[in-house]
Amino acid sequence: MDKLVVHGDSSLTGPLTVGGSKNTALPLMAATLLGDGPSTITNVPDLRDVRTFSKVIRYGGPSVTFDPKAHTLSVDATALETPVAPYEMVKKMRASFYMLGALLGRCGRAKVSLPGGCAWGPRPVDLHIKGMRAFGADIELDEGYVHASTPPGGLEGGTFRLDPVSVGATINLLLAAVTARGPSKIENAAAEPDVVAFGRALQEMGAQIDGLGTRTLEVQGVDRLRSGTFRNTPDRIELGTFLLMAATASPPGTPVKIRKGTHEHLGPVFKDKLAATGVDVSYDDETVTVTRPDTLRPVSIETAPFPGFATDLQAQWTVLLGTTDGTATVTDTIYDDRFKHVPELQRLGMEIGVDGNTATVRGGTPLQGAKVMSTDLRASVSLVMAGMIAEGRTDVLRVYHLDRGYEALEDKLGAAGVSIHREAYDEFAEPERESVAE
Ligand code: UD1
Repeated sequence: MDKLVVHGDSSLTGPLTVGGSKNTALPLMAATLLGDGPSTITNVPDLRDVRTFSKVIRYGGPSVTFDPKAHTLSVDATALETPVAPYEMVKKMRASFYMLGALLGRCGRAKVSLPGGCAWGPRPVDLHIKGMRAFGADIELDEGYVHASTPPGGLEGGTFRLDPVSVGATINLLLAAVTARGPSKIENAAAEPDVVAFGRALQEMGAQIDGLGTRTLEVQGVDRLRSGTFRNTPDRIELGTFLLMAATASPPGTPVKIRKGTHEHLGPVFKDKLAATGVDVSYDDETVTVTRPDTLRPVSIETAPFPGFATDLQAQWTVLLGTTDGTATVTDTIYDDRFKHVPELQRLGMEIGVDGNTATVRGGTPLQGAKVMSTDLRASVSLVMAGMIAEGRTDVLRVYHLDRGYEALEDKLGAAGVSIHREAYDEFAEPERESVAE
C-alpha cells in the first residue's frame, strides 16, 4: 500500500494547476453509451475512479481507451451486449450506478448491483429507483441487484420530484429520460456545475433538455443521440481544495496562484465564507490568487446543495479553521456522519469535537506530525493539508482513497513548495520496538 509523507516545515508558494473534474468525467463517460458511435472526452483526469468506471463500461462490451498523459478518453459503445454492472465493480465506486440510466436508455434493460453504504454511512439510491419507475421502468430488486426493463419501445417518461436534492439521481434520471418516448420533468433537481456540464454534453449529442442549472429540468425524449467529442470541465473540488490549502499553509503575504479552474463553480457561499476569514482572494478568468493574512478569523459553514457550500469541501474547511484565532463550526446537512477525519485530526493535536452533524473547532493550537489513516477521499486530502501545517513529519496512510480523486497530488504540491513524497509500506508489518523516555 502507499502512503504520503508530508513535512510541515515547508510552505506552499504555488503555483498549482487544476485538472479535469472527476464528478463530471464519470457521468460524461456514462453518456457516451447513448451515442450512435465512438465518442471522445478530453481533459479527463488520470484517477482511480476513471479507471474503475472504464472497467465497468468495458464489462458490457464497449471498448474504452485512455491516454492518461493526453487526458483523453475514447469510448466505442457500438457493441454493448451485456447490460450488466456487477457487484464487484459497483462496490468499488458508487458512480457505477449511473449505468442504470445509461443501460436502460441504450438497451432497454439493465442489471446493476446496488452500491451499499460507504465509509460515512448509508447512501441510499431509492430516489434513482423511484424516479426510473415514475418514467415507466419495471424494476425489481433481487439478490442485491436492480433488474430493470422498459416497456417495448422504451421508457414513456414522466414527472418525478427529488426530495432531497440529489446529484446522483438527477444524473441517472437524465440518462434515462433523454431517449424516452415522451416528455419528462425532474423537480427539485440538482444544479451542481457537474450536472450542468453533463447536461450540456447531452444537449450536444442531440438531447432536448430545458432548465439546466435550475431546480426544474424538462426533457423531451429523442429517438437517437449522436456521438461526439466533449471537453470535461475543470474540477471545482480540486480548485476549492487548493484554495483552502493556500489559505491555510502559505506564507502570510505571499500570493499563491491557482491556474485553470473555473471559479464560478465554487459557488457564492464558499467565496463569501472565505472572504469573511480575511483571506485575500482575487478571481480572474483562469487564475485565482490567494494571499493569506497573518491571522484568520473563525467562520462557521453549513453544507448545502449548489449554490451552497459543497460537502466535498467541509473536511478541508475544518483544517483551515484549526489555523484561526477562535472557535467555529462545520455542519454537514448532506451527510450527517461525514466526520471520519476528525479523530485523525485529533491525533495531530487539533482541538475539535463532533456533536451530531456538527464539528466544532477551536483554532490556534499548533499541530504535531503523526501517523494518520485515510478513510475516504476528501478526509484523506484534509489530512495531507493538516500535515502541511503540523510540526515534523506526518504519514497519511491508505492513500488509495486520495488516488480516487486527486491526480498526482504529491507532484503538484511538491512543485509548489511542499515537502511531500509517496512511499510504499506494509500495512501489516510489526512495528519496530521502541523505548519510552525516562
Ligand atoms: C453528494 C453531493 C455531491 C458530492 C458527492 C460525493 C450534494 C447534493 N451532493 O452527491 O456534491 O460530490 O456527494 O461526496 O451535495 N439521497 C437519498 N436517496 C437517493 C439519493 C440521495 O436519500 O436515492 C440523499 C443522500 O443520502 C444525501 C442527499 O440525498 O443526503 C444528496 O445525495 P446525492 O446528491 O445523490 O449524493 P451524491 O450523488 O453522492
